[in-house]
Amino acid sequence: MSYPYQIKSLEEYHAAWKKSVEDPEKFWGDIAANFQWKKPWERVLDWNFKEPSVKWFEGAQLNITENCIDRHLHDKANQPAIIWEPNNPNDPQRILTYAQLHLKVNQFAHVLKNNGVKKGDRVCIYMGMIPELAIAVLACARIGAIHSVIFGGFSAQSIADRLQDAKSEFIITCDGAFRGPKDIPLKSVIDDALVSCPFVKTVVVYMHTRTPVSMINGRDIWWEDEIRKIEQKGNPDFPAETMDAEDPLFILYTSGSTGKPKGVVHSCAGYMVYTNYTFVNVFQYKPEEIHFCTADIGWITGHSYIVYGPLSAGATSLMFEGIPTFPDAGRFWDIIDKYRVNILYTAPTAIRSLMAFGLGPIQNKDLSSLRVLGTVGEPINEEAWNWYDEHIGKGNCPIVDTWWQTETGGVLISNMAGITPAKASYATLPFPGVQPILVDEKGNEITENNVTGNLCIKAPWPSTIRTTYGDHERCRTNYFATYENLYFTGDGAFRDENGYYRITGRVDDVLNVSGHRIGTAEVENAINMHTGVVESAVVGYPHDVKGQGIYAFVIYNGTHGDEELIRKDITATVSRIIGPIAKPDKIQLVPGLPKTRSGKIMRRILRKIAEGELENIGDTSTLLDPSVVEDIKNGKI
Ligand code: WTA
Repeated sequence: MSYPYQIKSLEEYHAAWKKSVEDPEKFWGDIAANFQWKKPWERVLDWNFKEPSVKWFEGAQLNITENCIDRHLHDKANQPAIIWEPNNPNDPQRILTYAQLHLKVNQFAHVLKNNGVKKGDRVCIYMGMIPELAIAVLACARIGAIHSVIFGGFSAQSIADRLQDAKSEFIITCDGAFRGPKDIPLKSVIDDALVSCPFVKTVVVYMHTRTPVSMINGRDIWWEDEIRKIEQKGNPDFPAETMDAEDPLFILYTSGSTGKPKGVVHSCAGYMVYTNYTFVNVFQYKPEEIHFCTADIGWITGHSYIVYGPLSAGATSLMFEGIPTFPDAGRFWDIIDKYRVNILYTAPTAIRSLMAFGLGPIQNKDLSSLRVLGTVGEPINEEAWNWYDEHIGKGNCPIVDTWWQTETGGVLISNMAGITPAKASYATLPFPGVQPILVDEKGNEITENNVTGNLCIKAPWPSTIRTTYGDHERCRTNYFATYENLYFTGDGAFRDENGYYRITGRVDDVLNVSGHRIGTAEVENAINMHTGVVESAVVGYPHDVKGQGIYAFVIYNGTHGDEELIRKDITATVSRIIGPIAKPDKIQLVPGLPKTRSGKIMRRILRKIAEGELENIGDTSTLLDPSVVEDIKNGKI
């Protein structure tokens, strides 16, 4: 397979961008013609951001798994689709060729159907990073069920919230997952979640860690037993369900500035076209190369650049179960050496944590196969960028800094490896089809360069968020109502004299901790559930490795005197309610919070204190009780 739409020079990029803006229908129609459709579209694009209503390739029918698997069988049947490296380097690796992936996805699609899953049903997937996770995702897509993958670091309560929101009656999980030295009992977390979700009818369990599990008769079934039944029938093919272009493909929950996480919905056709297009162009993928994206499939990066983007392009996608520092900080470099990896796509937080181990873990590792390096998830500081460039890329590999979001489905602003210029800590230029603009607080467009503003996008790209599951109004108010006729990203950005964008971070109350989005309101709600907590306020502060750390100011009037133990209790509560990923890094018990006369917490002041800028707090005269600020400053940890 070659990619006629792969951009090969800076001039081609500029021409493509211009064409995509002047005639998006022709531009994306030409690209979409390279995919396998069951029925062609009647109209490429129909949209308004008012409702919002965004429809791409309407009238077309397809199944994304035919594009990710079946169409590669004639010339790539024996090429690895997925290479799997286990958590423990001494355990056997696994390789699934396109033919084997086809077999396994077909088998599991039968399993889903035999157990009553139908097109449009929501299937929750809570698994570790093993090939069966990708197989489960693709089997859902094959039968037209809407998958909702939940990252393994979320708690039972978070799972229950998501199950209830999506009304998922079907769950796919494993007994446990390995993460570095830990063994996480996933099925047991699911069992806890199901106490409040009696509507769940079936739980399929894949045996991986051989952790003891309780299997409830009539509800819980083993993956392997179900597969055996299909094998006994001779492994018949599973005809891919016919999906309309705009049928939902998946839900992925993500944190916002208010309330509970939102179920971001992506649809079949646009998401397929855009993840493929960006995969091929960001990384300048060449057939047979090995692409190693270190994200977890529980996040959007794994959905788009481990599963759908690479597989739709017939690529070889390397999936890693473990963590970068286990059994030692040379793990990534060993994997690159072992498989001759060509593309490494990781998060700045991983780079920073590995930098801290010095150059020892890189020595004697052959990284010469690397051609392209990528980052995603948070701003990358220049120091980390330079280290990545010098010590991993050896000065020879372009670094793509890809800015995008769960809601955007694929990369919106990034350089293209070796094609458009890179600039340290800049995501640089918009992709074809993407029209970023900066606006001021009032929503007026800022047209000059060398300015900072709120980052918005003017028109839809194919994998624009379609809705938030079960609550379209929430989608409108969150993303399309702040500024009229614009998609608002929630990020701030600086634009330099060349029109390159540098993302400066969130402008709303969302934290980015180790590249994971966490809403301050969510953490506060969790803290407030702890008995004795009167009120809390959570802000971010700069953290050397995580990018942002979580700082919680808590008013506590409980009786358990020892502060250290109180902090531990609060941390345990957050872990229980949201999951270990949301644990505060610092908890300061305070006598009061800085509030305005109308009772609003002045987070600006708390942020300054958390950042350690004690001398530069700013105006406190509008506070109800300015003296509280002194108390908080004095107690800073
Ligand atoms: C941040 C991850 C700076 C940003 C794909 C965005 C980035 C949020 C970058 C989305 C980048 C992502 N540079 N910041 N290259 N990439 N972000 O939904 O704040 O998990 O809004 O999607 O991460 O996080 P999400």
